Amino acid sequence: MSVQTTRRTLLAAALAAPALLPQGARAQAAWPAGQPITLIIPFAPGGPTDAVGRMLAEAMSRDLGVNVVAQNVGGAGGTIGVNRVAQARPDGHTILLHNIGMSTAPTLYRRLPYNPLTAFETLGLVTATPMVWLTRPDFPAANFGEMIRLIREGGERINLGNAGLGSASQLCGTLLQASLGTRFTTVSFAGSGPIYPELMANRLDIYCDQTTSAIPFIQANQIKAMAVTTAEPLPAVPGVPTAIQGGLPGFEVAIWHGLYAPAGTPKPVQDRLNQALRAALADPRVVERMTGLGSPPEPVSRQNGEVHRAHLAAEIERWRPILQAAGQFAD
Ligand code: MLT
Repeated sequence: MSVQTTRRTLLAAALAAPALLPQGARAQAAWPAGQPITLIIPFAPGGPTDAVGRMLAEAMSRDLGVNVVAQNVGGAGGTIGVNRVAQARPDGHTILLHNIGMSTAPTLYRRLPYNPLTAFETLGLVTATPMVWLTRPDFPAANFGEMIRLIREGGERINLGNAGLGSASQLCGTLLQASLGTRFTTVSFAGSGPIYPELMANRLDIYCDQTTSAIPFIQANQIKAMAVTTAEPLPAVPGVPTAIQGGLPGFEVAIWHGLYAPAGTPKPVQDRLNQALRAALADPRVVERMTGLGSPPEPVSRQNGEVHRAHLAAEIERWRPILQAAGQFAD
């Protein structure tokens, strides 16, 4: 039996039968045993994954009685942070929040160092977030139709920000390029957070981001919101039409997020983490804040590891042909 297997077996036994241990040892052995949990956010601070991750970390801390500490590990469209968790000890003290990129990276990266379906335990779906097309304040378009016209005319003179190959923003940009048959110039960052100063300073032209980080900038009139990517207009972004209404039939995309632990995390620990996730997503403060940012928690039936795993597998298959047709890959 390997050292790691022995460790996992002992941990599972401690969780399953704490009553067999003497009083003091019981408190020590039962996970999380007073030890903090690191929640890896695979993007820079200040973006949508960060916004959701920090809310979750705070609410899960309350339920678990230990600190859940959010740590940003950005780069390569989220794959660096994801790989950090794939390599972590499966002891429940390192977990991951990631988005739809978990399902697009296997097609986009020819040499991805992890397999999303075997390197992780899926702990439950968290939220599905709409996106919104944004422009810099001085971009000379009054509405989405004009934005489309200007980017068709501008082609590669138009700068589009994104959070790297495999990010949600990259996916949204790729879908727009495919719909229009146009190529823009893409500038990649380690997450959405660092893109906003560039957009507000008029150094980037356009960006497609999730409402969870875009709404505060829209409300402060620091950027222009052109269209949301939902089928119907979104109450959280009032007065902004859908991309479909703005002239792009079928342009609908929502960015799902899930919570993960490294493969081999003992089942009782997975179950406790799922319980903490569900408690966090039922917390009225979290529900109110997420709803106000356009991204209410997933229904309880989807805050579930098995549903999450099936969704991930289906999404990998769903995006593969679309991304292969778009033809942008990392080697
Ligand atoms: C993405 O584009 O995947 C995210 O917006 C990046 C982030 O959360 O910062």
